[in-house]
Amino acid sequence: MKSIEWKGDHLLLLDQTRLPSNTIYLKITDEFALYDAIQKMQVRGAPAIGMSAAFGLYLAVRSSEIQDPMKFYEEILDRSSYLASARPTAVNLMWALRQLETRAKKEIASGASVKSVKSALLKEALNIQKRDIETCRKIGEYGLSLFKDGMGILTHCNPGSLATAGYGTATAPFYLAKEKGWKKLMVYVDETRPLLQGSRLTAYELQKAGIDITLICDNMAATVMAQGKVQAVIVGTDRIAANGDVANKIGTYNLAILAQYHNIPFYVAAPLSSIDLTTHRGSQIPIEERSGVEITRLGGRLIAPIRVKTYNPAFDVTPSSLVSAIITEEGIIRPKEDGTYNLRGLAAFGL
Ligand code: MRU
Repeated sequence: MKSIEWKGDHLLLLDQTRLPSNTIYLKITDEFALYDAIQKMQVRGAPAIGMSAAFGLYLAVRSSEIQDPMKFYEEILDRSSYLASARPTAVNLMWALRQLETRAKKEIASGASVKSVKSALLKEALNIQKRDIETCRKIGEYGLSLFKDGMGILTHCNPGSLATAGYGTATAPFYLAKEKGWKKLMVYVDETRPLLQGSRLTAYELQKAGIDITLICDNMAATVMAQGKVQAVIVGTDRIAANGDVANKIGTYNLAILAQYHNIPFYVAAPLSSIDLTTHRGSQIPIEERSGVEITRLGGRLIAPIRVKTYNPAFDVTPSSLVSAIITEEGIIRPKEDGTYNLRGLAAFGL
């Protein structure tokens, strides 16, 4: 499923707030519309946010009349920091924008004109999208090596094709299992309150692909585990700190605790671009807090008393001690013997 498509002079975004009932595409022609789409979660999921922002940065500067490359670079940085402020938690947003900034800097240093810097920015955005397809596939292959046909695997939120350019991160092993003809894998999908990315998006895309799924409410996970229906949990992430602490959709931490109690491995699937070596530990990851309306209303209908107090953190942090392994496009990272992670060695991959 394509959630982001570059159409030559504009970006087409599949409006994820309208799924699964309506398939509506948004035509994005400037950075303001893109910022709005990210904030409203019409485009969401860490890699998709990053990819769309890369195109957004190109859209922001493509008609600039500045001719001086250094002044143009300042404009790029200014528009980039505007886009980076759309949502705080997914580090892929900042990562993708940095890729474009770095590309522009290199072009300018080699004497490129403003016109050619503009086309380099578009090429870089297209590259990020293209590379994401390969990244997801590799994550899927490593992830699948941890599973066997006949297992029950629980996932949360939407780490799927809608959140990436390819097979998703945590869903990639499911797509590959299907391709390889596995017949007995059962994917348990958490509905994922408050915005239901699990039931609206993950259940939708996996069912469409013919993958065997069972939808459960978030508060059923413990029972499903106790009944022996689940042999592994796999989730995506919005940011992994250098010590292996993982920020992901609210409710992920609950699952990790439940998995440990039931002696079930808890896996995190992530592109390297989700690892933030400048954040030492999970407590330093900025957690987005969203409007209480997302809790008090469901599909526009009031489901709580008016003026009730709410608290709506969109993400939580799972301590690395609960993470059995991190599955990346470069391989599976296991904790050290003492149970801790040190991801600093990944700096060699340019992180
Ligand atoms: O608030 P969302 O829907 O953007 O949150 C998305 C998630 O938490 C995903 O699990 C994460 O971004 C991984 S996407 C491959």
